[in-house]
Amino acid sequence: MKRVALLISGGGSNMLALVRSMTGDHPARPVLVAANDPGAAGLVRAAELGIATAAVDHRPFGKDREGFEAALLAHIEAARPDILCLAGFMRVLTPGFVARFEGRMLNIHPSLLPKYPGLHTHRRALEAGDAEAGCTVHEVTAVLDDGPILGQARVPVLPGDSADSLAARVLVEEHRLYPQVLRRYASGVRAPVFLP
Ligand code: GAR
Repeated sequence: MKRVALLISGGGSNMLALVRSMTGDHPARPVLVAANDPGAAGLVRAAELGIATAAVDHRPFGKDREGFEAALLAHIEAARPDILCLAGFMRVLTPGFVARFEGRMLNIHPSLLPKYPGLHTHRRALEAGDAEAGCTVHEVTAVLDDGPILGQARVPVLPGDSADSLAARVLVEEHRLYPQVLRRYASGVRAPVFLP
């Protein structure tokens, strides 16, 4: 059984989809949900599900990313995860942190990478006049929102879409895609899955 730690920054809906998927014959189990914001709503939801939680507020560390990551790492290492899932985790990680988890850290990003790494993905897709949008799960490398693609799901952009309405449509697909990718990944499958 693979041990999975999940990092969140907010509501944690992707985290919940992942946690709920890890039952029965699933090859992995959640061992920790950690956040960089002690007020992250997802922490309460994870605790309600009986999962160990931790919070390391990044703000007191200022520009000291290594210091923040060292504090976070203490919690993560104590949970001895085999796989680390970034699920709406909004802090950029240093190359040192990424190297430590190379080949066992996943991220979900709300665009069809390589399009729109970084922030405001839905607004950028609308501004570009794209006919479709979507989400990507990828392995994390030192380059932001880069790394081998493990899965993608697509949605149409509809007339009258706002960034919010598009985000909501994509989020539904995120909750479908990420659990599928994690299940495959935990079983050793690295070939990407493309959902219609
Ligand atoms: C999700 O849409 C996720 O793809 C995005 O933040 C949201 C988190 O929602 N992640 C990023 O933008 C990463 N740069 P959640 O907390 O409800 O899962």
